[in-house]
Amino acid sequence: MSEGRPAHRIRTFHPRRSRTTPSAASALIRLLPGWGIDVDTAPPHLRDTFTPPRPVVLEIGSGMGETTLSMAMAAPDTGIVAVDVHTPGIGALLAGAERESLGNIRVCVGDGVELMDRLAPGSLAGIRAFFPDPWPKVRHHKRRLVQPAFVHRAAVLLAPGGTLHLATDIAAYADQMLEVCSDEPLLDVGHGLIGRPPWRPVTGYERRGMAAGRDSADLIATRR
Ligand SMILES: C[S@@+](CC[C@H](N)C(=O)[O-])C[C@H]1O[C@@H](n2cnc3c(N)ncnc32)[C@H](O)[C@@H]1O
Repeated sequence: MSEGRPAHRIRTFHPRRSRTTPSAASALIRLLPGWGIDVDTAPPHLRDTFTPPRPVVLEIGSGMGETTLSMAMAAPDTGIVAVDVHTPGIGALLAGAERESLGNIRVCVGDGVELMDRLAPGSLAGIRAFFPDPWPKVRHHKRRLVQPAFVHRAAVLLAPGGTLHLATDIAAYADQMLEVCSDEPLLDVGHGLIGRPPWRPVTGYERRGMAAGRDSADLIATRR
């Protein structure tokens, strides 16, 4: 554990094992040294990790990275920093970024909440968390990512006009997202819970929920 890292932080993620494909493994070995950001040494201004520097959107829990990739391709002048504890997914994202010759993606293998601790106030253009782990059992609700402390820290990190974009397909979690963001004085929740905006690609996790009959809700809160 690094100096200054809270010892008792509650983890918001499940430990999980899954296979790393050969292309993802190769991408991790070749590209992580240049495109990876270490939680313990991340610069306070992530824009400096891009050449040339540019506004940065932080995506927490990028999963297999398909949505990250499409959104990065659609906004080449925005730097996307994708953070996930799931190494095979980060490898798949790196492989995709190389395949598409994208220069606007950086990755971090680790806990996005810890990465946020290192960043400078007002330094992000956006923060995304699409389908954070739902933790359905009541005794696990404390593990949900979207809590008052997380939302406050996110609001502090956003530049004025920057957005916190959340999505979930668990109705009770959507209500929690709305309540917590509405209670944060630095944020304006705009239209509240909305359907998936057409410019947000369906995510891998969301696709499985749709097949099971679940509807998604998005929330886009703006830093005042
Ligand atoms: C349910 S999956 C959704 C993945 C992707 N956003 C999608 O919609 O397909 C949640 C992801 O968040 C990651 N995650 C959860 N808590 C995290 C944290 N504190 N920091 C980084 N990643 C986290 C998990 O490892 C997992 O990959």
